[in-house]
Amino acid sequence: MAARSRGYFSACIGASNDCDLLARCACFVGRAVQFVSEPYPIFGYRFYKHFPDNGGGSDAHGPAYRTPKSSLTFFPLRAYHADRRACPRGAANPIRRAGYDHETEDANEPSLRGTPRVQVPIGQRKTIDFGAPCRTLAPMNADDRLIEDAAAYARDQMGPLAPSHGWDHVERVERLAARIASLEGANLFIVRLAAYLHDIARVIEDSSGGKICHAEAGSAMALEFLRGRGLDETRARHVADCILSHRFRNDHAPRTIEAKCLYDADKLDSIGAVGIGRAFLFAGEVNARLHNPDVEILSTTAYSGEDTAYREYMVKLQFVRERMQTAEGARVAGERHDYMVGFFSRLTAETRGEA
Ligand SMILES: [Fe+2]
Ligand SMILES: [Fe+2]
Repeated sequence: MAARSRGYFSACIGASNDCDLLARCACFVGRAVQFVSEPYPIFGYRFYKHFPDNGGGSDAHGPAYRTPKSSLTFFPLRAYHADRRACPRGAANPIRRAGYDHETEDANEPSLRGTPRVQVPIGQRKTIDFGAPCRTLAPMNADDRLIEDAAAYARDQMGPLAPSHGWDHVERVERLAARIASLEGANLFIVRLAAYLHDIARVIEDSSGGKICHAEAGSAMALEFLRGRGLDETRARHVADCILSHRFRNDHAPRTIEAKCLYDADKLDSIGAVGIGRAFLFAGEVNARLHNPDVEILSTTAYSGEDTAYREYMVKLQFVRERMQTAEGARVAGERHDYMVGFFSRLTAETRGEA
């Protein structure tokens, strides 16, 4: 049906196999996780429009598959699987999301400007030149697929969480941990898996009233998940160890460079502009006040109306920079710390009518 050499996709769409191609491309649009493991990737292009709108996308078993078409149209698309951070949404599974809402992003993608859409009539063979814009076209390997699966599993586990500790936090931690890992020479596979899985037991901790430590429970859950997915014992335990030691308050200090990357990224997400935002988000979740610089912070209690962003800063956030484990973590923490100091100083001045 299709053959690929670097930079080209050759499509032969005939009466006998167009359903096959439609099915594959429907997978690309609707269920990309399955598609990206196919040996005939059409990464770099996506196609739609010939699919009827069946409410959110086409499916290999939906109307698109069964409806005869006269042609298929391929639209330029970045090779998301090869460099998932290229996805502006930063999604854990960007291809899955890309199926529906990236037309504007494609049009705005500078590297793709001028890349033509290509229409392939059914029954004809056509070779599409990807040209320069399309980068690495290597298919997703087993490690990549496991990371995608882990992200999907973690996202499911974290669904009920409030926004201050929800999935957005995990995505930020994964991005930052991966960047720190690259600079520190850490194993990116271990770090990314650990980052996605590090808070999977937070719901359990919350529902236990804090009696169960989410780092300990999450480490065990991650080990079980990774073993179930066939990851070798050494790497599975390494990931579990990173998760066990990621918490701010427990006895398990991060020992490996991978654990330190995760630890730093997780803590860094609690300071700086993001940390301030999360602190106010949490304060809103517990109906706390906007600011309380004139009360004795140490006499206030958590989850009360005095559990403000400022309280969080005073009891925890201002000390985070002292705990960084990596050089890059320490550098970023210094910048974020200074930003917080300036912010809360300004907040106090404004609430007192002094600025
Ligand atoms: Fe955590
Ligand atoms: Fe976390």
